[in-house]
Amino acid sequence: MKRKFPNLCKPIQIGNVIFRNRMFSAPMGGTDIPEDCTIGPKSTAFYELRAKGGAGAVTVSECVVHPKTEHSHMYHLDTKVLGSMASFTYTADAIRRHGAIPSVELSHSGQFSGTYLIDTKEKKEMEQWGPSAGVRYDGVPVRELTEELIKEIVEAYGTTAALAKRAGFEMVMVHGGHGWLVNQFLSPHYNKRTDKYGGSLENRVRFAQEVLDSVRAAVGPGFPIEFRMSGAEFFEGGYGLEEGVEIAKLLESRVDLLHVSAGSYLTGFDITHPSMFREHGCNVYLAAEIKKHVSIPVATVGGLNDPYMMEEIIASGKADVVEMARALLADPELPRKVMSNRDGSIVKCLRCYTCLAERAVTTTRRCSVNPLIGREQEAGDIVPAVVPKKVLVVGGGPGGLQAAITAAKRGHKVILCEATDELGGILKGERAIPFKYEMYELAVTLGTQARELGVEIRLNTRVTKEYAEQENADAVIIAVGSEPMVPPIPGIDGDNVIQVTEYHHKKDEVTDNVVVLGAGLSGCEIAVHLAHEGKTVHLVGRSGELAKNANVRQRPILLKEIEKSGVKVYTNHKGIRVTKEGVLCEHEGKEVLVPGTTVICALGQRPRRKEVEELLDAAPFVAQIGDCVKASTNTDAIYQGHHAALDV
Ligand SMILES: Cc1cc2nc3c(=O)[nH]c(=O)nc-3n(C[C@H](O)[C@H](O)[C@H](O)COP(=O)(O)O)c2cc1C
Repeated sequence: MKRKFPNLCKPIQIGNVIFRNRMFSAPMGGTDIPEDCTIGPKSTAFYELRAKGGAGAVTVSECVVHPKTEHSHMYHLDTKVLGSMASFTYTADAIRRHGAIPSVELSHSGQFSGTYLIDTKEKKEMEQWGPSAGVRYDGVPVRELTEELIKEIVEAYGTTAALAKRAGFEMVMVHGGHGWLVNQFLSPHYNKRTDKYGGSLENRVRFAQEVLDSVRAAVGPGFPIEFRMSGAEFFEGGYGLEEGVEIAKLLESRVDLLHVSAGSYLTGFDITHPSMFREHGCNVYLAAEIKKHVSIPVATVGGLNDPYMMEEIIASGKADVVEMARALLADPELPRKVMSNRDGSIVKCLRCYTCLAERAVTTTRRCSVNPLIGREQEAGDIVPAVVPKKVLVVGGGPGGLQAAITAAKRGHKVILCEATDELGGILKGERAIPFKYEMYELAVTLGTQARELGVEIRLNTRVTKEYAEQENADAVIIAVGSEPMVPPIPGIDGDNVIQVTEYHHKKDEVTDNVVVLGAGLSGCEIAVHLAHEGKTVHLVGRSGELAKNANVRQRPILLKEIEKSGVKVYTNHKGIRVTKEGVLCEHEGKEVLVPGTTVICALGQRPRRKEVEELLDAAPFVAQIGDCVKASTNTDAIYQGHHAALDV
């Protein structure tokens, strides 16, 4: 077989271990961490999914090495924690049995300890430790680690590595990036010590070197050690790439794979987890530069999801391994699809931060495009139906498409009817916004998958009750979506007004001076896009806050982008009339004209209930999913579509 991506598919030897390909699963925290901080079957299923999907290595994160000074509610591999050895063994085994190399990230978050702790009482009571005493950015005092404590922590890295090896892990990753403890020692921002661990670069790397020596002594020669570092910290007072290169040079003799990430906890998620406003592969240059100066294999990470780009990275020698986190949540089978030349059916990550936000809010995981994430045990295996049924899916948006795909995978005969001439529902409009283009691509990919699975797709077909009854389906899944909310404001039906969902058809009509009416997520995003296009944009919102419906990780990055792109913001402005000159608003009891010759309306969506109600008796089994139940997110539509199809 001729592989389309030969470099990505090529095995690599690191230490004494051969990895089946160059696509590694970067560390991602599990889906739930029980009281005792062992891994547990739920998180094991989370990691196993990526091993089944064909990754060369799957890294379990974050294993805390020194609970005494760390406190984070993370995994503990510690003989004092009853059951932790067994649980780590089951996880390593679950990864290994699918041909992936199990690795575990050894971690200490130093002054950021407790970041992910939910118990606020415990959070308040704990002590934070770092290389130097000081006050954390949020006012929390940080204590300086004594030499005795440093020695204890260094030893703990070794002890944990030895236990990981005993549990069946075949590689360990030392987390030396993103502002965690090892990085705090490397960084001139955090490390103000005057002893042998501070000052010169040679002194600042000493802690990392001692940690690596301790791990090496524990695991023996040939056992691969991966070191994760930030190629540059990207904040004032932190180190830049030049120093990143020197750090790499000082560590390479102790490391088998140098994993070059970027940024720091202090810089926010936008750099460490590149947002949709950044180029794909925006951090690759860091790995490429470091690779020029070291002679060990180098891995790159950050916003990678396109096999063509990743193939080029390896082929051109910028890195030896590509690592992905979010791309393998969106599609755990990405490596398998690359190996089998099925790149057209890869579901790409949208970089919407749903995965990270869900952890912050509910301590679980979710993915907007993959209904299995965080529910791998309950929804992981799609069981074939004992008696295949005829299923009619009404609506070709993301929810309807997912329902059709899952139903077809179960062996049902599936017909999907879409009222318009194109699949994709609300995602169709995203093609006109470059930073959201992958949302549009999602619709295309789901459509391809549905067709490949034999779903019969009927475009330009509006399903009435009679139509559905004539089809005589056993099950009808209603996924007819939502429509724009248009409040009765005089002038809102004018020809200078464009609904945000229609923007892709009418973008050539948009003038250079625009009012965006509605400052929720979609209003904010279109405003940023129009500003990127060089237009003068006035963003009008009724409440005092922008993008209230954005998730907690996405919102701060979007707000920064609004500021950066020069969008003029009018909060607490209520639109009362649309004119040719702009939108007349009520603000603090006065009338104010917000100027603009085009008005983009982004005032929210409402479910298409009339269409739903018409179909409620159309078959013995009827399910309603997605926006037609309650205008919500892609995440909900896809999740509900998948489950409705499992329920048929
Ligand atoms: C859900 C999630 C959990 C993560 N957890 C960890 C972690 O525990 N340790 C770590 O070093 N990095 C963690 N990361 C960061 C990733 O390893 C990776 O560096 C980052 O997401 C950028 O890669 P990507 O663009 O492919 O997602 C996490 C990322 C995600 C999306």
